Parts: sequence; structure tokens; C-alpha cells
Amino acid sequence: MPLLEVKNLSVRYDKAQILNGVSLAVDDGEFVGLVGPNGAGKSTLLRAISGLVRFEERMKRGTAGDIVLEGEVRLAGERIDPLPAHEIRMRGLVHCPERRRPFRELSVLENLLAGAFLSSNKAETKRRLERALALFPRLAERRSQVAGTLSGGEQQMLATARSLMFDARLLAIDEPSLGLAPKIREELFAAIRKIHDGGVPVLLVEQEVGQVFKMADRNYVLSQGRIIGEGSGASLMANETLRAGYLGL
Ligand SMILES: Nc1ncnc2c1ncn2[C@@H]1O[C@H](COP(=O)(O)OP(=O)(O)OP(=O)(O)O)[C@@H](O)[C@H]1O
Ligand SMILES: [Mg+2]
Repeated sequence: MPLLEVKNLSVRYDKAQILNGVSLAVDDGEFVGLVGPNGAGKSTLLRAISGLVRFEERMKRGTAGDIVLEGEVRLAGERIDPLPAHEIRMRGLVHCPERRRPFRELSVLENLLAGAFLSSNKAETKRRLERALALFPRLAERRSQVAGTLSGGEQQMLATARSLMFDARLLAIDEPSLGLAPKIREELFAAIRKIHDGGVPVLLVEQEVGQVFKMADRNYVLSQGRIIGEGSGASLMANETLRAGYLGL
């Protein structure tokens, strides 16, 4: 049984069909990449999986046009698509959304601890904090600095590090390298690789297709709300239509 199983997932915002019958799976221990052009629906897919689309659906129905989500999402065999986002996270599916920013007024440490409110166990919180700081030495050096004064790239690292304060069964990360300088991007990818090496399955959305293909065991290519390719980086690169038409490589 896959750890995450998405079956025939469709999302429609009012009249716009954003996802159209998407099916994918992530196995325990796997690193799966999700790539595709801008506007393909990658973020929407992660937001549907983590319960954020359902949340919007609840909040907006009847006011800003209909939001319709259909299909199934299962985590370790159990349906999670009907659940609220916080319950999905409690079950271990941790989503780090695109352009997530830390709390500007809080220090690096306070930001990390603000992600740990679910654990009442102090020793456990300390363990998670040490893990996050060990993975991001740049943040460890700046632990007392106010987050608003970190560089944009460091803030993005902090946002990813905060996800580690939840004990993830699956970490779904959306465009962590967006707008980062090459050096900081490398540090971030190295940290994500270490998280995976530490036993956490990863579903990674990234524009940096070459980087994803280096790290991921398997990838999906999404275009206009549909999965149009699946496989290792090498096999996707060997497909000329995909490579030239969708991967920008
Ligand atoms: N809340 C919403 N209401 C209406 N349309 C939306 C909403 N959210 C996303 N969309 C539309 O859905 C499409 C897919 O958006 P999404 O953000 O999922 O793409 P993406 O693949 O993550 O793109 P990018 O690579 O630019 O981040 C876009 O055309 C977007 O405008
Ligand atoms: Mg996106």
C-alpha cells in the first residue's frame, strides 16, 4: 500500500478546471518530484492533498463562486480528503506552501518553537529543534536574530525548517528554492536531501527540474491539470516531447 495515494483528483474553481483526474502515489521512503510549467496546478495539487482547498471550499462556498474538489486522497490507506487541514497535519502530512514566510517579529528560535505547539513533550520539542538547527547551520548561527531581518533566502529556509517541528510522515514542499541565490539554494537542497536520508518521504514541487531529477527516485510531470509523464529523471529526459515541451531542459 502506498503511503500517499491520490486517485482521480479534480479541482474546479468556479468555471476553471484546475486539476483534471490526477492520480499519483508516494511510497514509504520515496522521494518524489512534481514538475511542470507555471500554472499547471502543482501548488493546487499540494493544497488539495493537505486540506487547504477543502478549507477554501468551506469558507467561500456561495460567495466567490463554487470550489469543487472530487476524488480521493489516502494516507497509509485511510481517506484524508474529507478531513480538515489541521487533522491531516496531525496525521503526519506536513505541507510547506509556496512563498511561506516566517513570523517577522519573532526570532529564528521562536519561529521554530511556534511550529512545535502540537508537542507537549519538552524533550521531544528539544529533539526536533536540534534536528532543524543541525540541518540548517545558517539558521543555527542566527538563532536569536529577528526573522524579519533575515535575507529572503534565509527566511525561506526558516519556513522549511519550521515544517520539521512537526513529525512528518510525509513532507510536501512547494518551490523552496524560489528566488534564491545559487549558494543558498544548494544549502536548501542539501538540507532537503538530509531530511529524506533521515527517513522522511518527500514530495517536492520545484522549477529547478534538473535538481529535482538528481534527488528524486521518481517524478510526475503535470501540465494543464493532468499528469502527462511519470518516471525517473533519466527516462523523462529521454522523452523528447516532454523534455522540449514541458521541462524546459
Ligand atoms: N483560488 C483560486 N481561484 C481561482 N483560480 C485559482 C486559484 N488558485 C489557483 N488558481 C489557478 O489555477 C491554476 C494553477 O495554479 P497553481 O498555483 O496550482 O499552479 P502551479 O503549477 O503551482 O504554478 P507555478 O509554477 O506558477 O507555481 C492557475 O491558472 C491559477 O490561476
Ligand atoms: Mg505553484
